[in-house]
Amino acid sequence: MAAVTHATRKLALPLFLACAAAIAVRAQTPDQLNLLAQIKTIDRDQLSVSEEDGRFLRVMVASNGSKHALEIGAAYGYSTIWIGLGLRETGGHLTSIEYDPARAKAAAENIRKAGLADVVTVVHGDAFAEIPKIAGDFDFVFLDAWKRDYKRFFDLVFPRLRPQGLFLAHNVVNKQNEMRDFLDAIRSHPKLFTSIVTPSGEGMSVSVKIP
Ligand SMILES: C[S@@+](CC[C@H](N)C(=O)[O-])C[C@H]1O[C@@H](n2cnc3c(N)ncnc32)[C@H](O)[C@@H]1O
Repeated sequence: MAAVTHATRKLALPLFLACAAAIAVRAQTPDQLNLLAQIKTIDRDQLSVSEEDGRFLRVMVASNGSKHALEIGAAYGYSTIWIGLGLRETGGHLTSIEYDPARAKAAAENIRKAGLADVVTVVHGDAFAEIPKIAGDFDFVFLDAWKRDYKRFFDLVFPRLRPQGLFLAHNVVNKQNEMRDFLDAIRSHPKLFTSIVTPSGEGMSVSVKIP
């Protein structure tokens, strides 16, 4: 028995280190982390979500097994990369729409640098016009555009959210006064379970569509 224990211990450490290395590589590479940090430095208007909110988005994508994702408001692609990292694991795809031409170009370039060009398509344009052009339903939606448009985006996208699909929206705590109609809608909707979480202080609503 003692010999078995000793042998097990001898095997356990290398096995643990191998697994940890594999997880570290699968989670994100140092290059991807550097890129995410660089995006923060060029983002002078602080449009990007916090790192913790980004990590939360990735967890939501991976835990839901999302395959067909939509992001409204890419800016420079910071949140887009975190969502893309989750979709890399699930085998899914993200369409991310950005109105500002320079930001859309930068987001597409950052996605390429992150090695996620096969997972994410950045679309330049007004999401109100672009969403109807996308085929199929969504099982993950992240809304981070202008706050006063949230209710209109929710009304546009909700009919195309699959059962068990997730609808997440950003800034629901620090900018709640700009989106009262949206917050009322997701809190009272008969086909949604909603929770507000605060991975960082800005707040995210997480709603799941119930059948
Ligand atoms: C807060 S920033 C997004 C930040 C990004 N999600 C991130 O964390 O890296 C909001 C972005 O939404 C874009 N936007 C606002 N209204 C839009 C619309 N109707 N269609 C597409 N993009 C829009 C803005 O140009 C801006 O870049």
